[in-house]
Amino acid sequence: MEQINETIELDQTAGKTAVKKKVEVKNLSKLYLGKKNYFEAVSDVSFDIREGEFLVLLGPGRCGKTVLLNIIAGIEEKSGGSVIYNGQEIKGPNPEFSMVFQKRAILPFKTVMENVELGLKFKGMPKKERRAISQKYIDLVGLQGFENAYPSALSGGMKQRVGIARAYAMNPQLLIMDEPFGALDAQTRYAMQNEILRIWEQEKRTVLFVTNNLEEAVYLGNRIILLSKAPAIVKAEYEVELPRPRNMTGPEFMDLRMRISDNTDLSI
Ligand SMILES: Nc1ncnc2c1ncn2[C@@H]1O[C@H](COP(=O)(O)OP(=O)(O)OP(=O)(O)O)[C@@H](O)[C@H]1O
Ligand SMILES: [Mg+2]
Repeated sequence: MEQINETIELDQTAGKTAVKKKVEVKNLSKLYLGKKNYFEAVSDVSFDIREGEFLVLLGPGRCGKTVLLNIIAGIEEKSGGSVIYNGQEIKGPNPEFSMVFQKRAILPFKTVMENVELGLKFKGMPKKERRAISQKYIDLVGLQGFENAYPSALSGGMKQRVGIARAYAMNPQLLIMDEPFGALDAQTRYAMQNEILRIWEQEKRTVLFVTNNLEEAVYLGNRIILLSKAPAIVKAEYEVELPRPRNMTGPEFMDLRMRISDNTDLSI
């Protein structure tokens, strides 16, 4: 009960500043039909995504994070509930959202430039225009000079930057990132976290970022939605008002980390 009170309190704090809701996730649920019975992956999940915020969904492994994101992106059918964007319910893939996938989705037989411009090409944008936009985001993620390189010549962090540049190049209204740094070593992960914050501060997009890593959530998020173990339900919501750049060893960081940790489910 204490946890629920905390969520309400934080909500009221947030209510003081008028924030525009960009996306409303309402009572989403997902059931998979097994051989004998149903398997529930997502259970009655509701939250809002506010204009311009860096919202983190934090949840343990296999709790239903990817299923939830895919439903929000409109690439997976839901069993119940709705996703409201601009006051309208979204059915089917939403071309105004783009996603950085958990498993790297860059094509090995295409160069960095060709990978970044892929979505714009599908949209039918002329070559000159799409190259100019792609170059801007290649530069922004620090891959200038690698435009003609193939993925096999890139490190893990660089490949991840290609995926991020491609998602940004689409000029999305919502940028969805599914554990984008999960496969990186600790050093590279830390560098990429700073990189993504630098880009977010420069471009001020609305970001929905998924992680199972508590430090990463507190380091990156304006707000954290804590999910339970499977099936995913919303356990609590935290406003993170620590100034940036955040000090991971500072007392306020540690205190928030501890409060969330006490409320976190293990994945098994
Ligand atoms: N197409 C599917 N059919 C049946 N079950 C599925 C399907 N897709 C996902 N699931 C199940 O839903 C649950 C949640 O999966 P999901 O991939 O969303 O977890 P996750 O939180 O993203 O995990 P991870 O932290 O490993 O990325 C898992 O038990 C998974 O096996
Ligand atoms: Mg996942």
